[in-house]
Amino acid sequence: LAFSLFYRLVTVLNNSPQTLAHLAEQFELASLTQEFYRDPYPTYAALVEHAPVKVLKDGSLFVTSYQDLRTIYADNRTFSSDKTVEFTPKFGPSLLLEHHTSSLVFNDPPLHTRVRQELVAALSPRAIGALQANLEVVVSGLLDNIAALHADSNCRSLDLIEHFASAIPIEVIGNLLGVPTEQRGPLRGWSLAILGALEPVLTDEQRQLGNQAVSEFLDFLHDLVAHRRRFPLDPQVDVISRLLPSLSEKELLHNCIFLLNAGHETTTNLIGNGLEALARFPDQAAKLKRACAIQNRGTIQSDQLLKTAIEECLRFESSNQLGNRRSVMPFQLRGHSYPSGTRIHLCIGAANRDPSEFIEPNRLELERSPNRHLAFGYGPHVCAGLNLARLEARVAIGAWLQRFPNYKIESSQLAGRVRFRGFKELRVELD
Ligand code: HEM
Repeated sequence: LAFSLFYRLVTVLNNSPQTLAHLAEQFELASLTQEFYRDPYPTYAALVEHAPVKVLKDGSLFVTSYQDLRTIYADNRTFSSDKTVEFTPKFGPSLLLEHHTSSLVFNDPPLHTRVRQELVAALSPRAIGALQANLEVVVSGLLDNIAALHADSNCRSLDLIEHFASAIPIEVIGNLLGVPTEQRGPLRGWSLAILGALEPVLTDEQRQLGNQAVSEFLDFLHDLVAHRRRFPLDPQVDVISRLLPSLSEKELLHNCIFLLNAGHETTTNLIGNGLEALARFPDQAAKLKRACAIQNRGTIQSDQLLKTAIEECLRFESSNQLGNRRSVMPFQLRGHSYPSGTRIHLCIGAANRDPSEFIEPNRLELERSPNRHLAFGYGPHVCAGLNLARLEARVAIGAWLQRFPNYKIESSQLAGRVRFRGFKELRVELD
């Protein structure tokens, strides 16, 4: 009883208006604590309530409210995605700079419109539908390997990220780009190094690893694209063959690198974060396990629950927690005026738990409706791979729950990034 009273007192004190206001006041993106990396949500809640448009020491804005994010994401005339101004001093003249200023996500029209048009067509429902059968085989093969590893009596627990979550998007995007299976080994390392260089504060080592990864990746793709020029595939299902006629060589190579980066870490984390969150909410997990157990019989309700469950996992532990924009004209937000050139951090992780949009935002509610989360962003740059990500998560999480419904998290280690939230290691015990 004494412990329970003490715990409740600590909880009440932590959530008192003074503590929350203090958290919001102290927040600085350049000096985050270990506690923040572990659980950023109390800080995000404090910011949403006490400083939804927080001016950081460097003059940039950290925006957390759901409605403000939608407003900014929707308006690409006022809020530019072009990162040349920001990245030139950050990366210096380097391959990282060339890469991050050539991909569609960090550009405005006309380059953005041209590349996006082709990519959206390349990731059409038909192209994605064509990937599903192979995806199911890949997932089933991974589960067989895990079952075999587990049957080995020395293997009490295993890393779900290494053996499952990270392997799926590599295979999917490898197929999408037509990378031969035996050459896929370095893809994950390249992707992690290039994305690591996008953290708000960058070490020399991260910068060097990022540049090396872009260089190696470019060499690799150069040969792959040359081969595809000589032996083109069906542009309806092969992304490179689709993009070849309309993009320059440089645009093509960098946007292929971006595709891997965009679809790899994010989807790995959606699967890993989703299975971890389900383990924290056993009542919700039980419902989904029941639905997945009967899914083989093809009931509409079980399929529907899996779909809404994936949306809730996307909202609850968004794998991409931060976006960025820079204003190209003066603007107003919440009655304040800000000048052209203002840098803005859009905190998806906070907006997706904003109580003005989501009832009980800190609860995982698999049947949440409506669930207009911003995990894929919003507006002209909304994720072009969202249907692919959803399909991968449905197949992966559904099959995992069917095969290992009694999994337990033994230990976990977060990757410790503020932009991409997910686990470096997630060890599970299988019953
Ligand atoms: C859970 C998985 C994923 C999440 C959370 C996610 C999240 C996002 C977000 C937030 C954006 C918007 C960036 C901005 O507006 O600044 C974005 C853009 C994009 N994503 Fe995803 N993504 C995921 C998976 C994928 C996959 C699988 C692909 C393709 C293979 C993909 C391709 C893209 C592309 C091409 C863009 C750029 C769109 C544009 O600028 O018009 N994403 N993604």
